[in-house]
Amino acid sequence: MKKVLFVCLGNICRSPMAEAIMRKLVKDRGLETEFELDSAGLISYHEGEGADPRMKSHAYRHGYNITHISRPVKELDFEVFDLIVCMDDSNWDRLHQLAPTVEAEEKIVRMTDYCRTHVIDHVPDPYYGGAQGFENVIEILEDACEGLLESLTVVHEKE
Ligand code: 4NP
Repeated sequence: MKKVLFVCLGNICRSPMAEAIMRKLVKDRGLETEFELDSAGLISYHEGEGADPRMKSHAYRHGYNITHISRPVKELDFEVFDLIVCMDDSNWDRLHQLAPTVEAEEKIVRMTDYCRTHVIDHVPDPYYGGAQGFENVIEILEDACEGLLESLTVVHEKE
């Protein structure tokens, strides 16, 4: 069982989108019982809300259903999850501040490190932009999630 937590700032755009894409990839490969997936945010401003309606509608058009309800990252997450996947440098810095131990810090990785076709170092925040920003998020996250799943599947098969 691999436990992966996707993290962004508000947990209403990028990280719930990453979670939904990963869920679909895992389901399509019949690997549901092998993965536990969740997402969380670094601010609690949107806690209890569903994903941003713009993100949901772009997701829907690409065949994804986002059902996640926003929640903030909590200390227990660093214990429960094997991998904490962030979207940008600001997320990275904040997660390192929150991590209770060195082992916990070692779980933090960047989503874009798993991209196979995009040469990019962060998933741009679409919140204050237009429709193209949301499309861009989906395109980057599809690339990154495929790379992430491949990396976890290879590791898993060796265990
Ligand atoms: P996310 O986007 O981090 O991808 O969920 C944002 C959502 C909300 C805010 C900023 C970014 N906000 O400032 O409320």
